[in-house]
Amino acid sequence: MKIELCIFNLDGVIVDTAHLHYLTWKELATKFDFELSPILYEKIKGLGRIETLRQIMAWAKISKDEKEIESIAKLKNDHYVQMIQMLHPTEIRPGVKSFLSELKKLYIKTALSSASKNAKTILSKLELLQQYDTIVDGDQIEHCIPDPEIYLKCSQNLNITPSNTVVFEDSVNGINAAKSAGFYTIGIGKTGALSIADAVIPNFRGFNFKEMLNLLKFNLASTN
Ligand code: G1P
Repeated sequence: MKIELCIFNLDGVIVDTAHLHYLTWKELATKFDFELSPILYEKIKGLGRIETLRQIMAWAKISKDEKEIESIAKLKNDHYVQMIQMLHPTEIRPGVKSFLSELKKLYIKTALSSASKNAKTILSKLELLQQYDTIVDGDQIEHCIPDPEIYLKCSQNLNITPSNTVVFEDSVNGINAAKSAGFYTIGIGKTGALSIADAVIPNFRGFNFKEMLNLLKFNLASTN
């Protein structure tokens, strides 16, 4: 196993914004008289803005024309953008920065992948905009997760194949998308649904490159 690139998802991996997305989607869903439970949200976690809204509307059995869909999505985004204004570098999740610096020292490339169109704003607030070798966000992809385009763009930008790349993701949708294109995957969060990944860690606290390789080798050997 030769790992040359690590791709990091943003919301819920680098910073706890996945929770803010959930809260704003949940509030929006109440306008459709629909209760968006955390369990249901897991099914749409990681999808793009419009795709997420369409799924919530389908569950709520609501139909709207394209113009209305765009303006409802904008409402949700306006609320979310207000919430991320107060983000600060201290909110970067524990262990992220030291793992990134270790990768840099080892000449392992790093990428940031996020279906969010707010990714660059968040990275700038966290002072992480210059920390990755490439960034692919919601403005640069045509096909959203479950399509693996977002990860493939990261690896193509750096000329590294999926079989030499690890993707860190907190959503089942993201893990499935990355796996479908042949990337190694590490879930960030609780096991359970994330167990479809090659390995799962709760967060990056104390995590390092050697531990990553050992985890992947051990888990892959026991599944083969
Ligand atoms: C979009 C979605 C959000 C999703 C996120 C990916 O972000 O709204 O639910 O989880 O992508 O992390 P947005 O472009 O609205 O910031």
